[in-house]
Amino acid sequence: MRAFRPEPLGRAQLDQLFAAAQAAPSWCNVQPWRVYVTEPPKTQALAEVMVAAAKGGFPAAEVPFPIEYPTPYKERRIGCGSALYTAMGIARDDKAGRYDAWLRNYGFFDAPHVAIVACDRRLGPYAYVDVGVWLGYVLTAAQVMGIDTCPMASVAAYPAALRGALPIAETEVVLFGVALGHADPGAAANATRTTREPASSNVVFCS
Ligand SMILES: Cc1cc2nc3c(=O)[nH]c(=O)nc-3n(C[C@H](O)[C@H](O)[C@H](O)COP(=O)(O)O)c2cc1C
Repeated sequence: MRAFRPEPLGRAQLDQLFAAAQAAPSWCNVQPWRVYVTEPPKTQALAEVMVAAAKGGFPAAEVPFPIEYPTPYKERRIGCGSALYTAMGIARDDKAGRYDAWLRNYGFFDAPHVAIVACDRRLGPYAYVDVGVWLGYVLTAAQVMGIDTCPMASVAAYPAALRGALPIAETEVVLFGVALGHADPGAAANATRTTREPASSNVVFCS
C-alpha cells in the first residue's frame, strides 16, 4: 500500500506483529534483524528529515542498489512502475509527477509508523537472507492482522539521515524500511495491482 491513514496502531498490536515475526528461521538461529520502529510524532519528524535528505542529499546505500536490471527483470520492473503510475494517473512523460510519487517514499506514504530494518554487518550477506525471511514473516503476519504495509528499500539510500534520528549502531547495515498502518482505501496509489510470472519461470525441476 502506498497511501496510509494517520491513525496509529496500538503498541499491543505492534508488539503482536513483531512477536509473530520472531518465529522466522535464520541460519544458526542468529536472528540478526535489528528493527527501529517509530510512533507518532517521531514518524513525522523522521519523515521530514528523510524528505530533506532525498531532496538534497547524496544517495549512499550501504548495500549497493542494482545499477541495471537485465532482461527479464528490466521488463518486470517497468511493469511494476507502470502499474503504479497508471493507477495514480501519472503520464509516462510527467517527470514532476514521477518525482513527487518517488518522494512519497521518504514521507513513508504518510504511514503513522515506519520500521527501519538493519542487520549486524559483521555477519555478512547470508544474514541479509535471514532478514529477508523475517520480512516475509512481518508482511504475512501484518496481512493476517489487518495491518497494511509497504516495504521500502528506498529509505536505505540515506543511512546518515536515519542514523541522525535513530540509535542505529555503526556495526549495523541499514537494509530497508517498512511503512505500517492502515491504508487509505480511496487513494489512487492503493489501486495498484501487480502480477506474477508462473512458478515455471523461476523454478526448474531437475531429474
Ligand atoms: C525488499 C523490498 C523493497 C521494496 N522497496 C520498495 C520501495 O522502496 N518503494 C516502493 O514503493 N515499493 C517497494 N517495494 C514494494 C514492491 O515494489 C512490491 O512488493 C512489488 O512491486 C510487488 O507488488 P505487491 O507487493 O503489491 O504485490 C519493496 C518490496 C520489497 C520486498
